[in-house]
Amino acid sequence: MSGKGKFYITTAIDYPNSKPHLGHAYEKTVADCLARWHRLKGEDVFFLTGTDEHGKKIEDAAEKAGKEPKPFVDAQVKYFKELCAKWGISYDNFIRTTDGKHEMICQTIFQRVLEKGDIYLGEYEGLYCNGCERFYLEKELDSGLCPVHMTRPALLKEESYFFKMNNYASKWLEFVEKNPGFIFPLQRRQEIINRVQEGLRDLSVSRTSFHWGIPLKNNPQHVIYVWFDALLNYLSGIDYSSEKSKKFWPADMHVIGKDILWFHSVIWPIMLFSAGIEPPKKIFVHGFINDAYGEKMSKSTGNVIDPVQLVEKYGADSARYYLLREIPMGEDGNFSVAAMVERHNSELANSLGNLLQRTLTLTETRLDGTVPKAKTSEALAKQLNLEKIGSFMEKLEVHNALAEIFSFVTACNRFVNEKEPWKLKGKALEETLYSLLDSLRIIAILVSPFMPGSAEKISAQLNVPLGSLNDAKFNLLKAGTKIGKKEILFQKLEAPKEEVREGKARSIRVSIAPQLKELDLKLAVAVIENVRVKKKHEGLDKKAREAVKAISLKEIEKSPVIRGYLELYDALKVKHGKHAVANLVEISAQSGKLPTINTVVDSYNLVSIKKALIVGAHDLDKVSGNVKVKLADGSELYIPLGQSEAMEVPKGEYVFADDKVVLCRMDVKQGEHTKVTNETKNVFLYVQGNKYTPQKYIDDALEEICGNIVKYCGGSWRKVKVE
Ligand code: MSP
Repeated sequence: MSGKGKFYITTAIDYPNSKPHLGHAYEKTVADCLARWHRLKGEDVFFLTGTDEHGKKIEDAAEKAGKEPKPFVDAQVKYFKELCAKWGISYDNFIRTTDGKHEMICQTIFQRVLEKGDIYLGEYEGLYCNGCERFYLEKELDSGLCPVHMTRPALLKEESYFFKMNNYASKWLEFVEKNPGFIFPLQRRQEIINRVQEGLRDLSVSRTSFHWGIPLKNNPQHVIYVWFDALLNYLSGIDYSSEKSKKFWPADMHVIGKDILWFHSVIWPIMLFSAGIEPPKKIFVHGFINDAYGEKMSKSTGNVIDPVQLVEKYGADSARYYLLREIPMGEDGNFSVAAMVERHNSELANSLGNLLQRTLTLTETRLDGTVPKAKTSEALAKQLNLEKIGSFMEKLEVHNALAEIFSFVTACNRFVNEKEPWKLKGKALEETLYSLLDSLRIIAILVSPFMPGSAEKISAQLNVPLGSLNDAKFNLLKAGTKIGKKEILFQKLEAPKEEVREGKARSIRVSIAPQLKELDLKLAVAVIENVRVKKKHEGLDKKAREAVKAISLKEIEKSPVIRGYLELYDALKVKHGKHAVANLVEISAQSGKLPTINTVVDSYNLVSIKKALIVGAHDLDKVSGNVKVKLADGSELYIPLGQSEAMEVPKGEYVFADDKVVLCRMDVKQGEHTKVTNETKNVFLYVQGNKYTPQKYIDDALEEICGNIVKYCGGSWRKVKVE
């Protein structure tokens, strides 16, 4: 996996009108992780981040603070640098668009595009949103408001220079066709292509109604449009036209959020086409960080998390680990401190921290703190799949790479449990401890892009240099090395009590045990909040009767979906009678209608019989902690519906269990204490699938069910990721 060559990576530059938020920290962490990975591969990396300091938004913020713009941004920028320092962001340059060199480069490029004939002077009248620093067309507004900021844009009329973007529309389309990986992830690409195919409007690239910007050389009444100015940071950040810029340009990757994709994927390459400069290689779009309820973080909602305070309290590596592991790259993710603490405790403290602790303690007490002369167990070494990790990183599936590294940590812990080194002596003891020490050395290298501080701590405790990917080979640990001073890697953290806002359901995590995943048990899960459950609803009753009429018991029994469940039960060697769905259809066929329970249960039963799918639902507020789907070992208790006595779940079945008890047995033998009643406010619901149901089939069913529930019981729903 060793590599040469260069890698130039950038983040967007942030508006310093207010303090940085968690979204800024996330973007920098993603870029930092990739930068560190490429350094580890031996590439010459340049990592640029910074602040976007001109424009009306900043001018207004400065005025509000009672300051001139420059002293205002000077003070604000400190917060962004502090964020980088606290989060371990290893940038090579922090660019500020008020840097003299940047201003000069902007003027030069602007002039070049003007002289080329791609910029002309005209007059502009339009609706301008200060928050976005852009004009909007009437049709782009949401009831007359900016769709991002929900504020009314101002009508502006002024003399302006215009950039003839359409001159380059066909060149752009050709370029994107030739470079299919230019916009990543792929699903964002087509939408942009469609927009460009509709033709490009001339872009207003100068302003006269305010002055906080870079003045045009030939007409200083005008300041350069803030986006034209900001995008050029990617050139000025590497001293455009210097030897350094010749080496690093074109940028290998611009890491940005989805809200600014148009600027980066269309306007930016077209500016470069016009200026005769090569476009960047890839625009990598990450998702947004929302709060625990999936809502945008904003000051008005009061759900903003200060990223600096967060890491001061919980540590940068825990926050980095959580964000990089939890959120599939490119998707939006929810952030809750409770979920972060849970991952910290189980995966960092219990799994990795404990492995290091146990290994070092045994080396100290049994081998006098000295690395023995031995070889790493081949069986253990085989559990590390470096190629897979590398390939995930190249595909930008950072979350999967991290999961793969941690599956090796789990393998090492399993190795300790199997070998029981505390019982071993002589060669066997030496081989076991050497294997673990050597593996930890490699783990430190591999986790270093994700958790640089912890990686350093592991190597220091092993008393070896951290090294590069070239050193991530077994048996390189030198015998005779005296291990360093022991230190707890991750202190266990106290989970904060989660605050649940009025009308909101708390967040919940759901995981399926690997054995069940291997048997193709699938899930689609949702939380429906703020429901108003009623005994019955006429419209729903009517729908239910129609559904029952349309269904035939014979067909249901023949359905591959049902066969899939039965095969799953057979594979687990558990006894089963008539299938739960077939049962429900039979009962309904006899009476001509579905049994009426309440409007939530009736809403999902409807889809359950239609699609032959097992659906389970619980009162979320009665579920403790998170839910795990796991194999019962015979000791689990549950309270069947309508009963008060707990009984044992037969061994071999799978169960849905919360932190305390079993909620439900495999084919929805629902427990009593979490059943959905008329009092239920928030519902936790899942659809089970199997090897004959594509994930999409159960996802669509989930959507239909939640749609029904919201229709008949009100509230809103959100999907929950299954791990
Ligand atoms: N100044 C412009 C970028 C100019 S780049 C030449 C800007 N600044 S920003 O401060 O509003 O956003 C900076 C970056 O943070 C953007 O990539 C943006 O998408 C990202 N994020 C802003 N809020 C976010 C979340 N809640 N979550 C993740 N990233 C988010 O746009």
